[in-house]
Amino acid sequence: MRPMIAPSFLSADLFRLGEQLAACEAADADMLHLDIMDGHFVPNLSYGPGLVRALRANTPLMLDCHLMVSRPEDFVQPFLDAGADLVSFHLEASHHPDRLLGLIRDAGKRAAIALNPATDPAPLRYLASKLDMVLLMTVNPGFGGQRFLPAMLHKIRQTRALLQEAGCEALIQVDGGIDEVHGAECVTAGADVLVSGSWLFKHNPLANGFEILRATGK
Ligand code: DX5
Ligand code: ZN
Repeated sequence: MRPMIAPSFLSADLFRLGEQLAACEAADADMLHLDIMDGHFVPNLSYGPGLVRALRANTPLMLDCHLMVSRPEDFVQPFLDAGADLVSFHLEASHHPDRLLGLIRDAGKRAAIALNPATDPAPLRYLASKLDMVLLMTVNPGFGGQRFLPAMLHKIRQTRALLQEAGCEALIQVDGGIDEVHGAECVTAGADVLVSGSWLFKHNPLANGFEILRATGK
């Protein structure tokens, strides 16, 4: 099955955001992946709800907000208000993940849990009824351009089995170090959505990179 492609806007050229947005639309991106970093949960800063609001006013693309923040309870609502369609927050950062997933769902949006590389997926079985997607980090979160962690392939298979057992049809998204080789491995292991930043944005035209990643599902 052909995977969905989520370009990570963290790798977009900040001086040409409008142009890069148009290129993502032209390439039929399945969603736009927005990495929100707070300098606390991860050692880096990116952007806040302001960018999401500006994008919302200018694109029909699904806005996929990956919150790499401590206290996601304080930040989910502002991103929903700004126009996020899908919100993922980290299990490691949340005291009440079930409640937070419910809050996102009650707003009519899609809810996802993100897991760091060293986090066991087993607790997902208790959240399965409220999950639209699981984001498996395939690098340590915080920066684009890092190397894919091969041990995550087993975790993708494990997560797929666990979700199936729970009767949950949530998508599995992989994020970090995705290129054509690792993208293909992830799709074979059971991933549905490939996030790609530094590798994808190297392509000119951008649509060529999308083509290559989509072909990993053949
Ligand atoms: C990392 C972010 C990723 C990152 C992916 O913390 O969650 O979305 O932008 O970038 P690449 O594809 O360069 O690893
Ligand atoms: Zn991300």
